[in-house]
Amino acid sequence: MNTAFGIDFGGTGIKGAPVDLAVGDFAAERVRIRTPEPSTPAAVAQIFVELLERFPDRDGPVGVTVPGVVRHGVVHSAANIDPAWIGTDADAVFTEATGRDVHVVNDADAAGLAEVRYGAAAGRRGLVILTTLGTGIGTALLYDGVLVPNSELGHLEIDGHDAESRAANSARTREELSWEQWAQRLTRYYRTLERLFSPDLFVVGGGVSKEAASFLPLLDLSTEIIPATLRNRAGVVGAALYAAESADRAVR
Ligand code: BGC
Repeated sequence: MNTAFGIDFGGTGIKGAPVDLAVGDFAAERVRIRTPEPSTPAAVAQIFVELLERFPDRDGPVGVTVPGVVRHGVVHSAANIDPAWIGTDADAVFTEATGRDVHVVNDADAAGLAEVRYGAAAGRRGLVILTTLGTGIGTALLYDGVLVPNSELGHLEIDGHDAESRAANSARTREELSWEQWAQRLTRYYRTLERLFSPDLFVVGGGVSKEAASFLPLLDLSTEIIPATLRNRAGVVGAALYAAESADRAVR
């Protein structure tokens, strides 16, 4: 299957585009719609219907990112989204609403899949840990390119705190931290990951990764750490890839 549709569901915007899976890029211009408030599953499903109607000639499976734990289509956590998501069979709700074959995946896992297939970690073997630094910290574990889903390492307890409450990009802006101050917190965070997993590579995604030159050189780590390259396309591209691979598996 060479194209699939990707939808990136975030706190402020819902973005969607058909994706050319041969190259890992949008096959048509992306559409963005504001996230409804409250962002309950039913309200979000309506936006997906609208989004897909904007691309009437694009069929095929649809992948959707969700910023929470997703097991077999069911959402199990909602750290930064409406609690109504918990326990929702999102695959079923979205498939029913849109009439399409929808597959839901954790947002960081989608970004990890995209970066390992098409981006910063393409062709890298061993253990790659992708982290997204945004409102929360999302993580994806990839071993020889294969995803171990729902790692949720943003919620490790470090020095008595939920790690993302101290080291996410939202903590930097909320507490008006300098790059140096934030880099100290990130060093503490990534060193904990190093101790636990001995990874071969860290990839840093999330909107702030476009400012990587301001903070990555300040980190003091033994593991190579590089910025993501797909930037804000990673969610949509990774979701589409996940959907295509899930649909293929269902056929086999
Ligand atoms: C959630 C993760 C998500 C991350 C980034 C965390 O708070 O628990 O599931 O991947 O935020 O959105």
